[in-house]
Amino acid sequence: MTQAPHHAPILGDGRELRRMAPGSVPQPEGDVPGWVSDEHVHAFAIDDGDEQAGVVALRLPEHRDGAGQLAWQLRPESRGRGLAASALRAVVEHGFTDLGLRRIEAYVARTNRPALRTAAQAGLRTEGVLRGFRDGVDGVVLGRLSTDPEPGTRDAFTAWLNSSLPTKRAIAQALIRDDAGCLLVCELVYKKPWDLPGGVVDPQESPATAVVRELHEELGVTAEVRSLAAVSWLPAWRGWDDATLFLFEVTVPAADLGAIQLEAREIRAVHWCDDSELAEHAADYTVRVARQACAALDAGTGTVYLEDGRPPRW
Ligand SMILES: CC(C)(COP(=O)(O)OP(=O)(O)OC[C@H]1O[C@@H](n2cnc3c(N)ncnc32)[C@H](O)[C@@H]1OP(=O)(O)O)[C@@H](O)C(=O)NCCC(=O)NCCS
Repeated sequence: MTQAPHHAPILGDGRELRRMAPGSVPQPEGDVPGWVSDEHVHAFAIDDGDEQAGVVALRLPEHRDGAGQLAWQLRPESRGRGLAASALRAVVEHGFTDLGLRRIEAYVARTNRPALRTAAQAGLRTEGVLRGFRDGVDGVVLGRLSTDPEPGTRDAFTAWLNSSLPTKRAIAQALIRDDAGCLLVCELVYKKPWDLPGGVVDPQESPATAVVRELHEELGVTAEVRSLAAVSWLPAWRGWDDATLFLFEVTVPAADLGAIQLEAREIRAVHWCDDSELAEHAADYTVRVARQACAALDAGTGTVYLEDGRPPRW
């Protein structure tokens, strides 16, 4: 790694970043106690005219070559003018260009919106969750690599959104009916209620691809998707986060159905259930969504949108 030069990164607009001596840096609110006073810290005062508006500190942990940790703080009266973002950005650039860092990171409480926004403006992306970070509030791990696109570019904006927008869990299941209208239902190893075949959609996988894959893995059958019978939003339930269920009408060749090979790790047995057998063995929300989807298929009214298996009240 290159040695730190003695000049400070440029800020512009009549404001300056002034290098501070190790040990003279006040402890920023947002960080792990104590680290700013050690000798591996590059700290900069943000001077706004005659005032010291705040501080940005970059610590280079001894055992993590090429990585730096950021903390920053403004005096309350200096906030609200965009000072922090430009100072942070200048120090990040300094870390990559002059100090030869390959990665700069920060830890911020999930509720600290000004810190999250200023970090984003300096090109740091959300990377993960630090559970129980401070006072029972989770934290966010933020990071930028020297190879990441410049803040302000389209690529940087998309990458930041990808890292910070919510991702919704998707589930893909199959309605497979026999000539009598009975549904193929799985008796599972890991939970009591019987369920429709299918499972969780993998990252970067489409729901339709997922249902075909799941049927192949769980039952050893080759399925073909005919239509999307229902979409049902599943609210959070018994510790599970909310999810969106895609319920597909699926056909399976009779020969495959006659030679089902159960994935024994997950499936104990399969059953063809009429409505009353389904109601006896499946969870209420499964019964609701299956009934609504079958009714829509029989009426030919197209995909039905449900919330928790019920038609929503608009
Ligand atoms: C983090 C800090 C430096 C930000 O400075 P700031 O001057 O408040 O920043 P800005 O005024 O540029 O605001 C940044 C963003 O937060 C938003 N914001 C500011 N105060 C807010 C508040 N109380 N509630 C919600 N949003 C707020 C602003 O609207 C802005 O968002 P935008 O870019 O979408 O418009 C300052 O709040 C601070 O010193 N906090 C305490 C120390 C700290 O938490 N450090 C960070 C981790 S080490």
